Amino acid sequence: MQSAILQLSYLIGSVTFIMGLKMLSHPDTARKGNLIAAAGMIIAIFATIFLYEHAGERLHNYGWIFAALAIGTIVGTMAAKKVQMTAMPEMVSLFNGMGGACAMLISLVEYNKPEVKETGTMLVIALGMMIGTVSFAGSVIAWGKLNGRIKDRTIPGGQMINFLIFAGLIALVILVVGAFFPASPGLFYGILALAALYGVLFVMPIGGADMPVVISLLNSFTGVAAAFGGFLYNNPVMLTGGILVGSAGTILTILMCKAMNRSLKNVLIGSFGGQKAGVAGEAKEQGNFKEISLNDTAVLMAYAQKVMIIPGYGLAVAQAQHACHELEKVLEEKGVEVSYGIHPVAGRMPGHMNVLLAEADVPYEKLLEMEDANDQMGTTNVVLILGANDVVNPAAKEDPSSPIFGMPILEVEKAEHVIVNKRSMKPGYAGIENELFFRPKTSMLFGDAKKVLQSLVSELKQL
Ligand code: TAP
Repeated sequence: MQSAILQLSYLIGSVTFIMGLKMLSHPDTARKGNLIAAAGMIIAIFATIFLYEHAGERLHNYGWIFAALAIGTIVGTMAAKKVQMTAMPEMVSLFNGMGGACAMLISLVEYNKPEVKETGTMLVIALGMMIGTVSFAGSVIAWGKLNGRIKDRTIPGGQMINFLIFAGLIALVILVVGAFFPASPGLFYGILALAALYGVLFVMPIGGADMPVVISLLNSFTGVAAAFGGFLYNNPVMLTGGILVGSAGTILTILMCKAMNRSLKNVLIGSFGGQKAGVAGEAKEQGNFKEISLNDTAVLMAYAQKVMIIPGYGLAVAQAQHACHELEKVLEEKGVEVSYGIHPVAGRMPGHMNVLLAEADVPYEKLLEMEDANDQMGTTNVVLILGANDVVNPAAKEDPSSPIFGMPILEVEKAEHVIVNKRSMKPGYAGIENELFFRPKTSMLFGDAKKVLQSLVSELKQL
């Protein structure tokens, strides 16, 4: 009976994970989906604590278990409540690292149990150790790079060194799983040491801004390592959870690479995004750009029929989402149709713009995906670009020598007028010049997005 209830709780857990993941794919249901999956996880955890039996014995060290649960819950809740939207990738990275560390510790504990292990069990332990440790070490480095504590560093011959370490790791796993076990625990701890070194060296040279892709990849590693834990304990909910995280992380990694038109290999070994400095000063050589005043912008927008707002990373930096929603409302009161053109990699993390605008209660129907936005561009009178740069750079379509050539972009030049708000002529994430700013249709509206939007709203109210 007890075991039936345990299995049923695991089934409920697995089903809620799948439902939750499905619901996360739409902003209207995302919050609920998250809660449903969390509820399933709580059921699975408590069922394990109170009902799980191994060799006729229940868990007993409740003091430790509940102390850890309490500390984890308090730290996790506080961190998630406090985190700024722009620091989200770094928090995700740290939490992901904790998952990797868990898988690593599970392998350590299981390895040190006195029972004789079958080859299959040993393989799962060794692989869990290897992948979990890489994910832990890599995620901690990614976290450090995102918050600026660790600088990008390329080691000469780094790729070769990484390859050798990886080959060494595989050799150690084979040795541990095969004939040398159980005589040489040193080999097993060798996996731990090499995997930690590999995690550090593999993430170290990657351009800081490429980190979201790497974090997503590390996330999928953690999922796989957790799934190994599921095998080890014959625990179906751990297996389902691990596989879901592993596959979702892999799909997200692929989608991000596609949206940037880069291969994963290029992200992992290229230094794109790392070499930003020194481009800003060259702006004037490109030609002249024109500026537009706040008042002229307000007039142009007030008398437009259709306005499309293109949000980018700068909008998130300025925390101008509420001011942006305010502008949209004022324009609509004047009979202007307002929509938002959302590029899949605008900002610095998947869905960044969707989450940002949802925070300000912008109705989801107003958000157009890139293809739809491009379809509507021809009938749009004014495009207002707010802190976006690379995602509207025509070089992606026109200049085969550009590092972003081939990346799909929002084709803003199809609209009648293009107004670009940013603080200077400095480049964005890709570190490259944007010819759009010098084109005849474009006018620059300089300033911090929040201040500019607030002033625009008051200008519009006076019209
Ligand atoms: P970016 O190309 O990074 O441009 C952002 C622009 O915002 C900058 O040029 C900056 O210009 C401006 N800005 C910064 N602070 C501002 C403020 N307070 N007010 C007004 N403007 C401000 O952004 P994007 O167009 O959103 O493109 C995203 C880039 O990130 C792409 O290259 C993409 O591949 C990459 N990326 C995205 C992701 C995901 S998943 N979203 C992951 C990794 C990389 P000033 O300094 O002149 O103000």
